Amino acid sequence: MAVGVFDSGLGGLTVLDAVQAKLPDVDFVYFADSAHAPYGVRDADDIYDLTCAAVTRMWDAGCDLVILACNTASAAALRRMQESWLPGDKRVLGVFVPMIEALTERGWGDNSPPREVAVQHVALFATPATVASRAFQRELAFRAIGVDVEAQACGGVVDAIEDGDMILAEALVKSHVDALHRKMPKPQAAILGCTHYPLMEDAFRAALGEGVQVYSQAQLVADSLADYLVRHPDMIGSGTSAYLTTGDPARVSDRATQFLRRKITFDAA
Ligand code: DGL
Repeated sequence: MAVGVFDSGLGGLTVLDAVQAKLPDVDFVYFADSAHAPYGVRDADDIYDLTCAAVTRMWDAGCDLVILACNTASAAALRRMQESWLPGDKRVLGVFVPMIEALTERGWGDNSPPREVAVQHVALFATPATVASRAFQRELAFRAIGVDVEAQACGGVVDAIEDGDMILAEALVKSHVDALHRKMPKPQAAILGCTHYPLMEDAFRAALGEGVQVYSQAQLVADSLADYLVRHPDMIGSGTSAYLTTGDPARVSDRATQFLRRKITFDAA
């Protein structure tokens, strides 16, 4: 059985790369819904429908566990999927919880009551749909008290990255960090709450300046999945990977190869 890694496009490859490195014996199926990206400007119903369709396709490809390596889908669709759609023999996990557990100094699945934590001023950078969902603040409130979150919707960054226009992406990152600073001059921590943003991590760090702890998801999700698999050793396979896209496989393969700097070949979903 394979583990599915889902994203609207290529950003989830940052998560896939980290989980493949950490778990070389697990079989993975990566699904990029490139025909419908970006998700970050869609409404919640639309994101829910698209995510359910993609996850169903991943079940058909042999995945009983799917990681939504897309903050927008995790924020706008995951809770509804888990509450009213998911069959009992399947699991879908999101990417918010591992990040919030790290921010709030908690171990995997620690559901003890919320408590005070070291950071008090947190900047969240995410897509417009993720910011509108307030899912980050909701999940944080279950775990921490007294944390002030300022969210910055980073319009345009995902499109620029998907188009391979890193100069535009860098300029947009700088202007979004400037906008955040006008609302919260001294964040202690910054959450890169979109799987595309680790590709721009240097630009975020440079614009944020020294002394801000930057939380980037890929490694946190890989560590969390490794913890999960210790409890579910039946998911260990032989280390194969398959790549599916709803977009043009040749174009998506080229971009993916450029991002990960190794040959990636997508097939039509
Ligand atoms: N990479 C996704 C995320 O983590 C979504 C980007 C998009 O499709 O807008 O939010």
